Amino acid sequence: MSRRIPAPADQSRRSFLRAFGVGTSCAAAALAGCEVAEIRQDGAVGSLDFDVTTYPALATVGGMVAADAGLSKLLLIRVSDTEVAALNRVCTHAACEMIPDAIGKWDATAKQLTCLCHNSTFDATGKYLTGPGGVADLPSYPVTFDAAAGTGTVDLGGA
Ligand code: FES
Repeated sequence: MSRRIPAPADQSRRSFLRAFGVGTSCAAAALAGCEVAEIRQDGAVGSLDFDVTTYPALATVGGMVAADAGLSKLLLIRVSDTEVAALNRVCTHAACEMIPDAIGKWDATAKQLTCLCHNSTFDATGKYLTGPGGVADLPSYPVTFDAAAGTGTVDLGGA
């Protein structure tokens, strides 16, 4: 994981990170994983850096983890050798939070996410497939992923 030294102009952004507890302390986050979130000038989270060391499930195709970036509740899914998908994990049917291997299940063969609250299904782009109520698509975010390095970035401004 890369860390950068804050320039003086970054101090207000760093203060915002501390205030909201976003990605500021790898030591504090050691039990739950560690990520670095980039906060834009308007206070929104702009990006989330991740790596397979922090999230070992992403080292294997079919792996899925929960990751938070500010108020954004994400699922990161290793959908292929070269791709990681990032979806909002709050189901659009009745707002169940799709915790991996509890309420959210990823089928690597069908490339399909199931919300186990009422069995709505979505594809890797967040598109609604089946389930009650004809629910809306899950927000999805562009991801750049370097499979050789095992690192990636989610662009949270690109939903
Ligand atoms: S809340 Fe997800 S299917 Fe109902």
